[in-house]
Amino acid sequence: MGIIEINRVSEFDINKDIHQPLQQLLCECFGKDYPEDRIYFKQKPHLRFLAYVEERLVGHIACDYRVMNLNGRRINVLSLIDVCVSAANRSRGIASQLLKEAEGFCRNRDIDYILLFADHPNVYERNGYKKVQNRCKWLKIDDETQTSAGIGYEVINELMVKAVSEKGWEEGELDLLGYLG
Ligand SMILES: CC(C)(COP(=O)(O)OP(=O)(O)OC[C@H]1O[C@@H](n2cnc3c(N)ncnc32)[C@H](O)[C@@H]1OP(=O)(O)O)[C@@H](O)C(=O)NCCC(=O)NCCS
Repeated sequence: MGIIEINRVSEFDINKDIHQPLQQLLCECFGKDYPEDRIYFKQKPHLRFLAYVEERLVGHIACDYRVMNLNGRRINVLSLIDVCVSAANRSRGIASQLLKEAEGFCRNRDIDYILLFADHPNVYERNGYKKVQNRCKWLKIDDETQTSAGIGYEVINELMVKAVSEKGWEEGELDLLGYLG
């Protein structure tokens, strides 16, 4: 395999040279559930990390910079969305490299935790993420109609967190102050 190059791109700078291969990658990785007419499920992210091998897009993480409320305390969170690597390039550490890049981005920035909802916890556990059991409150978005669909309030078993500041994580109530990324 060639050298993996990872680029960071702001959502404002996504052009058609990025959009088209990214749409293809997301549809390939998430299958028929992924919308074919946009590169997000529910909401546009703030930035993305893109992994290239020989100038071909093979991996992706989207990130939201969010304020959330943990037990009444304001926390700054980088929320990771749509982590994926093309099937032909899996088990080569590309997702792990993308996660390391996202973590490096948090250094010397005002970010307390990285948070994600994982269907496949292994790769995240290997990268220092922990499963947590907070009761979450979030804005539901119907991704088909792109409309708000009420407030969700329950423990989400897929929630994983990594502290990137000296603040420890707490059990309890997590208000996402927005949608579930
Ligand atoms: C989940 C997903 C992103 C993992 O991507 P990946 O690049 O294969 O991940 P990594 O290579 O970093 O790690 C995955 C496996 O490869 C192994 N691995 C890590 N580094 C490696 C390396 N340098 N060489 C070989 N194998 C490696 C890990 O042990 C891990 O094994 P495990 O999953 O059996 O525990 C990818 O399978 C995917 O896109 N799936 C479809 C979309 C999806 O479900 N996204 C996640 C939503 S939570």
